[in-house]
Amino acid sequence: MKKRVLSGMRATGKLHLGHLAGVLVNWNRLQNEYESYFFVADWHGLTDNPENARQMKENIRNMVMDWLAVGIDPEKATLFIQSLVPQHAELHLVFSMLVSLSRLFRNPTYKDKLEDLRKGGVEGGISLAGIRDVKEELERKADEELKATAQFVAGQSDRDTIFRKLKSDVMSLFYDFVDRAGEKLIEEMLESSSFHSVISYGFLGYPVLQSADILLYKPHYVPVGADQVAHIEITRDIAEKFNRLYGEVFPIPEALLTETPKIPGMDGRKMSKSYDNAIYLSDDEETVSKKVMKYITDPQRIRKSDPGRPEICPVFALHKVFNREETEEIYQACTTAKIGCVQCKRRLAEKLNETLKPIRERRKELKSRNVDVFEILKEGSRDAEKFARRTMDEVRKAMGMDY
Ligand code: TRP
Ligand code: SF4
Repeated sequence: MKKRVLSGMRATGKLHLGHLAGVLVNWNRLQNEYESYFFVADWHGLTDNPENARQMKENIRNMVMDWLAVGIDPEKATLFIQSLVPQHAELHLVFSMLVSLSRLFRNPTYKDKLEDLRKGGVEGGISLAGIRDVKEELERKADEELKATAQFVAGQSDRDTIFRKLKSDVMSLFYDFVDRAGEKLIEEMLESSSFHSVISYGFLGYPVLQSADILLYKPHYVPVGADQVAHIEITRDIAEKFNRLYGEVFPIPEALLTETPKIPGMDGRKMSKSYDNAIYLSDDEETVSKKVMKYITDPQRIRKSDPGRPEICPVFALHKVFNREETEEIYQACTTAKIGCVQCKRRLAEKLNETLKPIRERRKELKSRNVDVFEILKEGSRDAEKFARRTMDEVRKAMGMDY
């Protein structure tokens, strides 16, 4: 029996060299060795912005076209869409009861998001200004009540009666203060920590949905990059909690840490669609060459006779991944000023186009066969659902909710 792997990708649209080196190369290999489930996490794509729904169809089409062009093969791996397998949502709901809020607040992905928002100028925190309002309100109230009390006291001669009346008035004012100040504080907390109004319930629950994605298929391994390890940890915790509460249903999966080489974009930052610095798998030869020529290089290398510093040069970072055979030679040539940056880039462009050539050919072939990615994904989703339904049945049974 082959072991099983499962992994997902958010539907971000067409993919670039970073995805190729970081994920697709691995999937390509894994599908030959394992029973593989690869899916489009379309619901996850809504967690930071529900308006992404509008682009989802197009994004899925482009992204999965890239999967196929790279060689991910529906004959070898089950390719499917999260939202076409409703059990993901069902299991997510059950799991949402098994994970504490504090566990989710501690999730580094969530904390990073808060950090981004804070840097973006959103201020959190509680001020005492609100409590000052409460104080004034209560002072007015105290004036009224104590005036009445003073009158009452003036007509009394029994000290015990006076004491009881004073005490009960003071205490009731005090309790009012605590109540109102508490309410005000909570109000302030909810309003002033504006990130809570920016971040959705679903965003906080991102790793809970991911846990359901994973555990439905009881995989041995989950191939992911290092940034996802915290989510796999939450998945393992949830699986353990479920098993403890209801009985052994879920094997505890392991992250299969795949090497994700750093692929810089044209501006030297991490290659990303949002930075507009990416070389796409679907770019044609000319576009790739033009983009490579735009790459920044070692800024201290002004003349060709200046030796360069490959370790800080993004072009060299790409050579290291896509042109391994020549890396050593280029390193030598650069540090001894025997090669110019233009020539170095030309060699990279050539190499990249060589890498992309079979991908382009397969894409052309897919187009000529009029391959419909949604047809493939729907068929895969039917297979995935069979598996998922079996797991959900076990879940209901274990919980005693199999009516
Ligand atoms: N969170 C993953 C990412 O951003 C995508 C994902 C969703 C995933 N569900 C998954 C990955 C389940 C592996 C398994 O890359
Ligand atoms: Fe970068 Fe190549 Fe120029 Fe060296 S020769 S600085 S590695 S582009």
